Amino acid sequence: MRLFNTNAFAGLVTISAAAITTSASIASATCSTAGIEALVRRRLPQHEHSFTFSLSANKESGLESYAVTTTHDGKFRVEGTSLSSILYGLHSYLFDVVHVDIWWYAGSQLEDAPLVLPKLFLPLNGSSVVPYRYDFNTVTTSYTAAFWTWKDWELQLDWMALRGINMAPAWIGIEKILIEVFQEAGFSDDDIADFFTGPAFLAWNHFGNLQGSWSSSLPFEWVDDQFALQKKIVKRMVELGITPILPAFPGFVPRAAPRVLPDARLLHSIQWAGFPEIFTEDTFLDPVDPLFAQMQRSFITKQKQAYGNVTNFYTLDQFNEMIPPSGDVAYLRNVSSNTWKALKSADPNAIWVFQAWLFAQNTTFWTNERIEAYLGGVTADSDMLILDIWSESMPQWQRAQSYYGKPWIWCELQNYGATINLYGQIQNVTNSPILALQESTSLSGFGLSMEGQQNNEIVYDLLLAQAWSSEPLDTEAYFHNWASARYSSDQRPGFIHDAWETVRTTVYDNTNLTLMPSVPKSIIELVPRTSNMADITGILGTKLPYDPAVMVSAWKQLYHAGLQDTSLFNNSAYQYDLVDWTRQVLANAFIPIYKNIVDIYYNSNQTAGSRIQRLKAQGQQVTKLLLSLDLVLSSNRNFRLSTWLSAARSSAPSPAYVDSFEYEARNQITLWGPSGQLIDYASKAWSGLMKTYHLKRWQMFVEYLTVTEPDKYNQTEFEQQLLIWELSWVNDTGCQSEEPHEEVDIQEIIARTVDQWMDLFT
Ligand SMILES: *[C@@H]1O[C@H](CO)[C@@H](O)[C@H](O)[C@H]1NC(C)=O
Ligand SMILES: *[C@@H]1O[C@H](CO)[C@@H](O)[C@H](O)[C@H]1NC(C)=O
Ligand SMILES: *[C@@H]1O[C@H](CO)[C@@H](O)[C@H](O)[C@H]1NC(C)=O
Ligand SMILES: *[C@@H]1O[C@H](CO)[C@@H](O)[C@H](O)[C@H]1NC(C)=O
Ligand SMILES: *[C@@H]1O[C@H](CO)[C@@H](O)[C@H](O)[C@H]1NC(C)=O
Ligand SMILES: *[C@@H]1O[C@H](CO)[C@@H](O)[C@H](O)[C@H]1NC(C)=O
Ligand SMILES: *[C@@H]1O[C@H](CO)[C@@H](O)[C@H](O)[C@H]1NC(C)=O
Ligand SMILES: *[C@@H]1O[C@H](CO)[C@@H](O)[C@H](O)[C@H]1NC(C)=O
Ligand SMILES: *[C@@H]1O[C@H](CO)[C@@H](O)[C@H](O)[C@H]1NC(C)=O
Ligand SMILES: *[C@@H]1O[C@H](CO)[C@@H](O)[C@H](O)[C@H]1NC(C)=O
Repeated sequence: MRLFNTNAFAGLVTISAAAITTSASIASATCSTAGIEALVRRRLPQHEHSFTFSLSANKESGLESYAVTTTHDGKFRVEGTSLSSILYGLHSYLFDVVHVDIWWYAGSQLEDAPLVLPKLFLPLNGSSVVPYRYDFNTVTTSYTAAFWTWKDWELQLDWMALRGINMAPAWIGIEKILIEVFQEAGFSDDDIADFFTGPAFLAWNHFGNLQGSWSSSLPFEWVDDQFALQKKIVKRMVELGITPILPAFPGFVPRAAPRVLPDARLLHSIQWAGFPEIFTEDTFLDPVDPLFAQMQRSFITKQKQAYGNVTNFYTLDQFNEMIPPSGDVAYLRNVSSNTWKALKSADPNAIWVFQAWLFAQNTTFWTNERIEAYLGGVTADSDMLILDIWSESMPQWQRAQSYYGKPWIWCELQNYGATINLYGQIQNVTNSPILALQESTSLSGFGLSMEGQQNNEIVYDLLLAQAWSSEPLDTEAYFHNWASARYSSDQRPGFIHDAWETVRTTVYDNTNLTLMPSVPKSIIELVPRTSNMADITGILGTKLPYDPAVMVSAWKQLYHAGLQDTSLFNNSAYQYDLVDWTRQVLANAFIPIYKNIVDIYYNSNQTAGSRIQRLKAQGQQVTKLLLSLDLVLSSNRNFRLSTWLSAARSSAPSPAYVDSFEYEARNQITLWGPSGQLIDYASKAWSGLMKTYHLKRWQMFVEYLTVTEPDKYNQTEFEQQLLIWELSWVNDTGCQSEEPHEEVDIQEIIARTVDQWMDLFT
């Protein structure tokens, strides 16, 4: 970061009490169970009258608890000390006793609950071991929810509420408030439009990593739509006992700032991730400038006017993946102190929620001394809440001495860029948070901070369940129970439990975090190269931390369960899992084919003609395998490119934007940037994408190998050719976003795939 205007300002402007409008309806919802009753009507309409909910006042030791009992009229009484604990109590009953649940992607299966609900002979009770249960990485809104509708949000919020989540960021459509604050500061609409990224990249605009759009500029009509959605989200969160964490003004302003705010103390962020200068190096209003506090007050006041007095929690990240302008401890203390005071001047009860990712991302810059100085600027510990963002693999709380006493949340990250592969660290999400609870008195919550919500739901559920047990959970019992709820019955064939037990002890039990600390990437989804693609370890690595043969055994067990109990093929969670696991077997089978190609290419003990012939034969194997994979994925709408693209197109506020919204959706999952700045970071295993993108790249690779002598192999040259094609693929909007109309028979597709690849599945 470089300082380009060093006008210093003396002190903070006097603090005036922020005008606060309270929305009585929202405020009163926090002590009413009406939101829970409405959830039951939405998801379990046949049981609208089966449950009564009551909020009890006696909170032992400040931690929340619940008790579920059967009353003499055969109904169920769910009592809890908070809305969230009542919801978790309801969930415990549905999950542990009725064996039904609501899921990401597979959707709600709560309607599978029988008409006569099983009685409880003893009360079902529990208490949370932490006050906060948190959800969402700040980038999840871009990777997963960029184009969500209210229907998607409703499912998400019910999912969260039932799993006991009581705190989550709500920052959809926040550009609405920013636009008003910027207008008030004197920026024109053009200045402002020039600041926002496109709809698929807003998270990084919020952080000041990116600015401006490489597709059309962000339509303000869309911002209005998103803001309307945000209002519903916030209201629903409050009804369901989830405290919204609203954004605060982070300080990033349009690049016209030197013209519009000539006296302001402005800085530039660094060039982020190699993006061209016009899309990064955001202008940052130094929090030591009194204008920062003024804009903060305006921002928070407008927010309170929009949503009412719903929260005191504000998310604010200033130096995400960016080096502060100075490493001087006095400066760092000063910058956070001023940021905090500005926030308090806007809301005297404000609590600053802060992602500690930067400390893990750059341990060279963020020495303990600097962390202590930066956090130390906030002298009241309880005014901050820190998210230790990757606690299962790269926790920072130990070296930072529990954030020097600031409350913090133990967060499970698990995946980068919403990568789709089976993976888990079950020991680290059960033992480690409980150990942390014993070691750190300021640990205040457990939470999920995955970059994207994709598969592996079980390992996220596991941590949320751990929040209600002071002993590390018995994962064997947990997986067994989970599988019963997953397929809406504890009477499924034993194979189903065998399948989950096989993956529990292998695929989901990685303990070598040097080898693989998060979901591995599939080499199918990376730019092909001849060197070592399948053996990359560490973040975004590719090396499987398990023997691929165990995946085949687990797959067989899962499939045999379906053959024994064919009604499973009609269960949306089973459909999802069978596709997901079949995908994994096929993706793993790609690795030896790739290795073969490289071996053939570099084997000097053959004529050029025979090398080319053998390469072509392997190329045919690649095509055959990826087409099979595409077909399998196409049998479930959650694994289709068209689902993502049509969501993007439908999100566009008017026909003029439909293609640019699709471009955004295509760009994020492929080039991630105007010309591949973060290429493949958020790659996906989706049908449509497999066939038209990944397969095509591999065919071009094999083609390149057949026309290039091994000693002339030039990766740069190949990537340049590839990029021309990738750019045109991303531009190719408007052609394939139709949903397949006819119902696909998943059982038939899997059977066909197994027949074709008999050797892989036996
Ligand atoms: C610290 O902040 C004050 C405003 O509160 C400002 O006047 C001063 O220049 C800042 N010092 C540094 C080293 O940034
Ligand atoms: C559950 O209820 C029993 C009996 O009232 C009580 O002894 C126990 O402490 C409760 N457990 C939890 C976790 O609240
Ligand atoms: C807003 O809520 C907080 C606590 O949640 C409370 O302390 C404060 O007095 C409320 N403000 C108004 C204006 O109602
Ligand atoms: C970390 O910070 C140092 C400066 O202390 C800088 O030189 C380096 O490039 C940064 N590394 C990353 C990964 O940002
Ligand atoms: C993860 O779990 C393994 C196995 O229990 C343990 O050795 C390791 O220390 C844990 N790592 C972290 C970061 O918790
Ligand atoms: C973990 O994986 C790394 C990288 O593959 C390897 O060098 C190391 O020996 C492994 N550690 C254990 C304990 O297996
Ligand atoms: C799946 O459900 C449909 C209709 O809901 C029914 O016709 C069909 O028989 C069911 N199939 C299986 C295998 O249970
Ligand atoms: C080269 O090929 C010949 C004939 O196929 C075979 O006998 C020999 O073992 C091969 N040598 C190597 C180094 O692969
Ligand atoms: C590889 O290709 C690039 C781009 O075409 C070229 O600039 C470079 O000189 C080539 N390298 C070699 C070693 O030929
Ligand atoms: C992609 O579309 C943009 C905007 O329509 C255009 O500027 C660019 O040249 C196109 N690129 C390719 C490779 O077609």
